[in-house]
Amino acid sequence: MALVIGVVSQKGGVGKSTCARLIAREYAHAGWDVKIADLDVSQGTSFDWHVRRLQQQMQPSVAVERFGTVEQALKARAHYDLLVMDGAPHSTTATLKIVEPSTLAVLPTGLSLEDLKPQVLLAHELVKKGSTSGNWCSRCAAWETATRSTNPPGTTSRRRATACCPDRSPRSWPI
Ligand SMILES: Nc1ncnc2c1ncn2[C@@H]1O[C@H](COP(=O)(O)OP(=O)(O)OP(=O)(O)O)[C@@H](O)[C@H]1O
Ligand SMILES: [Mg+2]
Repeated sequence: MALVIGVVSQKGGVGKSTCARLIAREYAHAGWDVKIADLDVSQGTSFDWHVRRLQQQMQPSVAVERFGTVEQALKARAHYDLLVMDGAPHSTTATLKIVEPSTLAVLPTGLSLEDLKPQVLLAHELVKKGSTSGNWCSRCAAWETATRSTNPPGTTSRRRATACCPDRSPRSWPI
């Protein structure tokens, strides 16, 4: 069953697809079998990137597929080591659905107050709605979510504690 990393924001153009591709490429380079679920079907940014890479025979191989719903995308978990969800902007419902199964939620943002504020509010909303619980990673500032589906109640997820930082995991984390 794949580890899931969700890349989300309510604002458009903040770097979701860029981060999703960067993460996917680095994990693939480290030997993971990776798929990006491109959930922004109207733009298909990551899918177009995939086509260009195929045409140029670029390595490492990263699978990319467009999905209309998060539920459909999650079915791909069975076949990969890592599923990176590239979310669409302005989609509250889908954002919540992406973060729920994610071990790591990445919320890219610009540095201006106008850019930061909506992302911080989104992070608070995700916690408030109970779609996720976790901690800000003290090293990389990513939000490490609890993986409730794989951990018995009351236990701490080993994966949760190691999702974003390389030297805390028995496996070779690429980022
Ligand atoms: N760290 C960065 N520095 C400079 N430019 C960046 C950075 N991250 C992304 N960009 C640029 O910003 C633009 C938008 O990036 P991207 O498509 O990844 O955003 P997005 O959040 O996926 O957008 P959308 O909401 O439309 O899906 C692109 O031109 C990309 O090259
Ligand atoms: Mg995008």
